[in-house]
Amino acid sequence: MQDPVRNLKKAGGPTQPVSVWDLPTRLVHWLLAALVAVSFVTGKIGGNAMAYHERSGLAILALLLFRVAWGFVGSRSSRFADFLKGPRTVLRYTKGLLRPDAPRHLGHNPLGGWSVVAMLAALFIQAGTGLFANDDILTEGPLFSWVSKATSDALTRVHLFNRQVIVLLVALHLGAILFHWVVKGENLVKPMITGVKNWEGGAAAPADGRTWAAALIAGLAAGAVYLLVR
Ligand code: HEM
Ligand code: HEM
Repeated sequence: MQDPVRNLKKAGGPTQPVSVWDLPTRLVHWLLAALVAVSFVTGKIGGNAMAYHERSGLAILALLLFRVAWGFVGSRSSRFADFLKGPRTVLRYTKGLLRPDAPRHLGHNPLGGWSVVAMLAALFIQAGTGLFANDDILTEGPLFSWVSKATSDALTRVHLFNRQVIVLLVALHLGAILFHWVVKGENLVKPMITGVKNWEGGAAAPADGRTWAAALIAGLAAGAVYLLVR
């Protein structure tokens, strides 16, 4: 099995392409990025665009359900167990970030792992509160009738506040990717598109396909959201 952490300076050997991000993880990523943009734009426009806002938000909810399940059964570098590390490891990684011999990680690094959780959690809160939100005029989330108007108003305030949390997390996300590119000379974007990373002497492919499982979970996630808001 491939060692997911390598010290570049020590090893420094020739690299080989190794698959790191499986197709479902990449698809979910780029769909999430696109739909978060759609949700922001349609939320800002309001009015007739709110119908699309709701659909986009529900699609995000289904993607999040999928991603959480995939965090348990997906291929190695997509699993939470692969990238969620304890505070000491995160601190050690963060402290050593600027050192030239800092370790490189095949999947998410210890700090990036927690930023993934933070982004997924913030998006869950956003889509979840949206279900109960209202704009006092035309738009009511599909589960508005489950709660009182006062509760809906409170959840709408969370919805409106939390979008700033999402903006902040996405800005940090893009900043971190830029940092890796400019300071560390590491292109993380290409592997998130192609699934492949150049890695020293790596032959093992941790991103093995589980297409049938992905299709089944995607169906279940979409079905769950459909049943919820039907
Ligand atoms: C609203 C916009 C975005 C959101 C919500 C978002 C969210 C995420 C999430 C949740 C992950 C973890 C992937 C996983 O394990 O499932 C991730 C990883 C990643 N994202 Fe984004 N992303 C956004 C935009 C972008 C953009 C525009 C780029 C490219 C410039 C990008 C590049 C990457 C890369 C390279 C990784 C992998 C990082 C690594 O190697 O550890 N993301 N993103
Ligand atoms: C992660 C996905 C989502 C994002 C990023 C998002 C973002 C936003 C934004 C930017 C606004 C506009 C606030 C303003 O400027 O007035 C808004 C409003 C709203 N959203 Fe979402 N939203 C998401 C999911 C949802 C979902 C799933 C629903 C319901 C199905 C929903 C229902 C609403 C409602 C009813 C409003 C109007 C609240 C108001 O303006 O008072 N949203 N959302």
